[in-house]
Amino acid sequence: MDPHITEWLNLAIRWAHMVVGVAWIGASFYFNWLENNLNRVNPKTGLTGDLWAIHGGGIYHLEKYKLAPPSMPENLHWFKWEAYFTWITGMCLLFVVYYLNAEIYLIAPGSGLDSTTAISLGLGVLITGWFVYDFLCDSALGKKPVLLAAILFFLLVGATYGLTQVFSGRGAYIHIGAIIGTIMVGNVFRVIMPAQRNLVKAIEENRAPDPALPAKGLLRSRHNNYLTLPVLFIMISNHFPSTYGSQYNWLILAGLAVFSILVRHYFNTRHGSQKYAWTVPIAALGMIALAFVTSPYGSQSSTVTPTASTTEAASAGVSFESVNTVIQARCSVCHSAAPTHAAFKTAPAGVILDTADEIKINIPRIMAQAVQTKVMPLGNLTQMTDDERNLIGTWVEQGAVMQ
Ligand code: HEC
Repeated sequence: MDPHITEWLNLAIRWAHMVVGVAWIGASFYFNWLENNLNRVNPKTGLTGDLWAIHGGGIYHLEKYKLAPPSMPENLHWFKWEAYFTWITGMCLLFVVYYLNAEIYLIAPGSGLDSTTAISLGLGVLITGWFVYDFLCDSALGKKPVLLAAILFFLLVGATYGLTQVFSGRGAYIHIGAIIGTIMVGNVFRVIMPAQRNLVKAIEENRAPDPALPAKGLLRSRHNNYLTLPVLFIMISNHFPSTYGSQYNWLILAGLAVFSILVRHYFNTRHGSQKYAWTVPIAALGMIALAFVTSPYGSQSSTVTPTASTTEAASAGVSFESVNTVIQARCSVCHSAAPTHAAFKTAPAGVILDTADEIKINIPRIMAQAVQTKVMPLGNLTQMTDDERNLIGTWVEQGAVMQ
């Protein structure tokens, strides 16, 4: 497909994905907040509690019914399209970004997968993920929420490890995000909405609603609540090569997920007690620890180990000319004012590496992308070698002399 068209498709779909995603998660955060902040002291008959709020220059009074109002209102607002459209736009984005150019974005360099297999695998894990999750929740484990959560967590970490073996780091991350997103939307579509429909129908028909459905719905919406923050990180993770580009990318993602779930837990419980206040500093320390272990500085930093030829180069002093030759050979098909790669019409991320000056201002970014992590060249399409990465690293260590 014409790269200019894919760029605008990407833009339009990503924008829409963000808007509906914000609407979905925003509503979900808001209702959680409402639930946690209801004034439950001496509620009026039939009510669980109420709440006063001011927003946008108006004062609102909200009331939550124990079950339902004496007569059902004509106009009851439901929240579902935000979730469905987030999933639909997300799937479209997965196709435009990762599946249209699978060999660039999706497949791990050297894994030997072809595009069709990789895409089938990607779609396969999304479908399998939902069915495994749904099965486990409906099994006897559904009655043991903590054990269930632990098992789900380890299955997801296992899936992350597995996917990082065949997909690029960012391709693996985005598929874990898509598995979780599919589970969250599946929960809305298959469990939460049917439970709500059943409730409303029972009230209208003046009979007691089936108690099993709301209990199932509650477990699933709890899961959705705790999964929100990890999913949001995954959606922005492609900006952070030190996470997905690390050789321990699957562990780093697991760590970030744990810290964000801890923080979520505190926000879910802080209205009742401060018992979990410790989770916030622990999560902050955890983030600092992750920043430390992913640091490119220090002895075991670089994922590239020096070889005989680079040691030779180091003793001789690396010239800009040799670095420039590598960059022109390995990067400029894409990172040029006029890229020759069919998938790009303009330099990706605006990074142009045609001239010495352009290379100079981009040194830290080149180091981050092509030396400290190996996320560039994307998909290692231009087959950059470790020696060449070392050459650039050594040149920078020697002071990046421009001649
Ligand atoms: C096959 C095309 C391709 C090749 C070859 C390639 N890149 Fe990239 N590069 C991209 C794309 C696409 C992006 C934008 C990434 C994204 O979508 O997040 C990018 C982004 C970057 C960025 C910006 C990252 C950021 O967000 O700060 C840098 C720096 C970079 N590449 C360096 C390099 C270097 C150095 C090489 C050669 C060793 C190289 N790239 C080779 C396609 C390529």
